[in-house]
Amino acid sequence: AKDMGDDLERILITEDQIKSRNREIAAEIDVDYAGKDLLLVGVLNGAIMVMADLSRELHHPCAMDWMAVSSYGAGTTSSGVVRILKDLEIDIKDRNVLLVEDVIDSGLTLSWLVGNLNSRGPASVEIYTMVRKPLAFEVDLKIKYVGFDLPNEFIVGYGLDYAEKYRNLPFIGTLAPHVYGS
Ligand code: PRP
Ligand code: MN
Ligand code: MG
Repeated sequence: AKDMGDDLERILITEDQIKSRNREIAAEIDVDYAGKDLLLVGVLNGAIMVMADLSRELHHPCAMDWMAVSSYGAGTTSSGVVRILKDLEIDIKDRNVLLVEDVIDSGLTLSWLVGNLNSRGPASVEIYTMVRKPLAFEVDLKIKYVGFDLPNEFIVGYGLDYAEKYRNLPFIGTLAPHVYGS
């Protein structure tokens, strides 16, 4: 590919909107976790951008750790059966965990992950996702912090990929049809 811009259809959330939303959410987190320990857990790979940006907007001290998970099964939709590819380095017993995601679509990945983390005896497990899709309302998942609600369209950028590309776009947008067409 020459320029990623050639592959885009429309920008849905600009870089500025993302920055100010991270700042707003960070201010809420500073208040909510005042006097408490905080451990941010990013879900690789999509959460790298939001982890980097959210953490730098926080005034509250935090530890950071990462998990990598993979859904079993073929196809593009999550099966809900999840396998840990890379586990946490930190013991979360009695810690306040804030799971950080780029997008929650079916919600199946995070439903499983919350259950898994809760079995380790943390003080709390909450979620921040930059983007929530409509299907996420259909699973039993409490999402404490949401950046943006978006319709059920395929989106890329700010950590979100299509075939591992476009994660490094600084905004969130849709791809032109020709990208899928070949
Ligand atoms: C994407 C996204 C979320 C998950 C959401 O990750 O980053 O982690 O899917 O899907 P769900 O709500 O339907 O379960 P993906 O598995 O594509 O891996 P990636 O983060 O490395 O792109
Ligand atoms: Mn992901
Ligand atoms: Mg992906």
